[in-house]
Amino acid sequence: MHIITDPKQLQNEIKALKRQGKDIAFVPTMGNLHNGHLQLVRQAKQKTSIVVVSIFVNPMQFDNQNDLKTYPKTLENDCQLLEKENVTIVFTPEADTIYPNGLTAQTYVEVPELSERLEGALRPGHFRGVTTIVNKLFNLVQPDYACFGKKDFQQLAIIKQMVTDLAMPIEIIPVDIEREANGLALSSRNGKLSSSERAKAPLLSKVMNKIAQSLPSKEIAHTELITAASKELNENGFTVDAIDIVDCNTLQPIDSNSKRIVILMAAFLGRTRLIDNQVINLQ
Ligand code: PAF
Repeated sequence: MHIITDPKQLQNEIKALKRQGKDIAFVPTMGNLHNGHLQLVRQAKQKTSIVVVSIFVNPMQFDNQNDLKTYPKTLENDCQLLEKENVTIVFTPEADTIYPNGLTAQTYVEVPELSERLEGALRPGHFRGVTTIVNKLFNLVQPDYACFGKKDFQQLAIIKQMVTDLAMPIEIIPVDIEREANGLALSSRNGKLSSSERAKAPLLSKVMNKIAQSLPSKEIAHTELITAASKELNENGFTVDAIDIVDCNTLQPIDSNSKRIVILMAAFLGRTRLIDNQVINLQ
């Protein structure tokens, strides 16, 4: 496994692999890897033997400087995990090689509309930061396949839109959410929870499941379900940031054409923001 920090060296190795006619699968991450990330790597491996993983805590997508500063960094352990998965290249650039002219002078890529809704409205500039770095990493890695987790539902929808709109020759592979036995979705942010917060955290998915069970048809009054869910979470130590039930394709409110909908949950436990989601096919 090659650990590369220099974008030029990465490009040279990618050129050599392409010359040999190899397909490349790519897994972009911000590190602090857990089993959810390893599932992405395993899906990538099913596509081709050459897997590139990037580990880069992207400053451009953080709207909260404290969140950026405290984002867990565990590079040595991450590399050990990736070595066991037979990853070909780990790319771990420094921020000043990715953004040599700083963030404000950086050319950006933005998917309008989808990026402005839901999470995008709560975290201004977040998705612009995501699409800009993913675009740059795609240009460096030149992947044939790229794996993204379904936990970041809106991120996945936006990346798919970007790839379609810009005619990128990349197949996006969505990968299922990995959960603990208690239902808590795996996330690098779980590591920031105190032990008492960790004990409360599984309630987020339990409340989401309750909404899902009460949603047999599109006629149901969603606002009542959302109000009850928010109340339960807020009474049990969470501070709800947003609960939305929207059309899977448009991320707009459900209408009579909606066939698949998604429940999107975002709530703070202390200073840690947790997200989760569940897709439902309407009868
Ligand atoms: O999902 C993430 O970890 C990040 O948003 C990504 C895709 C690696 C871009 O920084």
